[in-house]
Amino acid sequence: MATAKAHTNIALVKYWGKENQELIIPQTDSLSLTLNEFYTTTTVNFDDQLTSDQVYIDKQLLDQQDSKKVVHILNLVRKLSGINYFAKVDSTNHVPTAAGLASSASAFAALAGAASSAAGLKLSSRDLSRLARRGSGSATRSIYGGLVEWQKGTDDQSSFAKPILEDVDFPIEMLAVLVNTKKKKISSRSGMQSSVATSPYYDAWRKVVAQDMTAIKEAIKAKDIDLIGHIAEENALRMHALTLSADPGFTYFNAETLTIIKAVQDLRNNGINCYYTMDAGPNVKVIYDRMNREKIVTKLSNIIGHDRLVVSQPGPGIKIWNE
Ligand code: ADP
Ligand code: DP6
Ligand code: CO
Repeated sequence: MATAKAHTNIALVKYWGKENQELIIPQTDSLSLTLNEFYTTTTVNFDDQLTSDQVYIDKQLLDQQDSKKVVHILNLVRKLSGINYFAKVDSTNHVPTAAGLASSASAFAALAGAASSAAGLKLSSRDLSRLARRGSGSATRSIYGGLVEWQKGTDDQSSFAKPILEDVDFPIEMLAVLVNTKKKKISSRSGMQSSVATSPYYDAWRKVVAQDMTAIKEAIKAKDIDLIGHIAEENALRMHALTLSADPGFTYFNAETLTIIKAVQDLRNNGINCYYTMDAGPNVKVIYDRMNREKIVTKLSNIIGHDRLVVSQPGPGIKIWNE
């Protein structure tokens, strides 16, 4: 039996499309910030008494269909370790599930850590990152803390994350604006699949990401929060242009998403530097230097209410312990 705690991460240069669906090899590199405030804790127990895998998320037993992605990881771990028992998986999300706040990232990182350790495997961080990738692409990066790059690679061996700066030594902060924490209608998986298959802008996106990766790594080296924020904001808008330009077109934004975007622009016009990014959901994350926190929180509280704002620092990498 083993337990793992992994934090979510928010991409500053987004992953939005797969080259290989089965192995989850992405079309492009990506780069993220792991967050301290949002995480998943997962316990896995391989038990010779069980007659099937049992998966609980937030104390709810999942049916066979909903357990599929988890069972896929358990099967990979059984193959790697030679253990043939079924497992009980008990997972708790300290993050809204399936709302565009990266629950799949913390969930599959924690699952990879707990399942491999419960099966007696001692995987390197790189191999843990590769295993987490098989559950959800963004989980590849949640093995590490701080600023993390996922190098797309070309196959299962070469597609994994690397830490860029685990202990972030400059005052970058991220504010999650909880516009809507309900389950989204279009999962990240199907949204990116239709974008790759139907958006006429997909080739341009691949070029944008290559440029943004180079630029943001320079900005990180220079500890330039404004430049990091600017690159992240542009990159997010271009990712969302892929959903609008898909066939059928769709968007993860709602009216409140646009209200928050406008508020961030207003703050900036008033000399308070901050930048926004959105994932596959209506929630907005604001990037800024912590010296501006109070002014940003005050302005957004007046619009959406203080209880829907979560200030987060950069967070740590995965922790695993055996019981
Ligand atoms: P998000 O924006 O939250 O990452 P996704 O559409 O990428 O949304 O992924 C949501 C899916 O991730 C859920 O429907 C579920 O299949 C899976 N998931 C979320 N949390 C857990 C968990 N703790 N354990 C196992 N699977 C999870
Ligand atoms: C917009 O990793 O959730 O958050 O690999 O199909 O599980 P699957 O998708 P997922 O997609 C994340 C998309 C994103 C951008 C990012 O995290 O890089
Ligand atoms: Co996800």
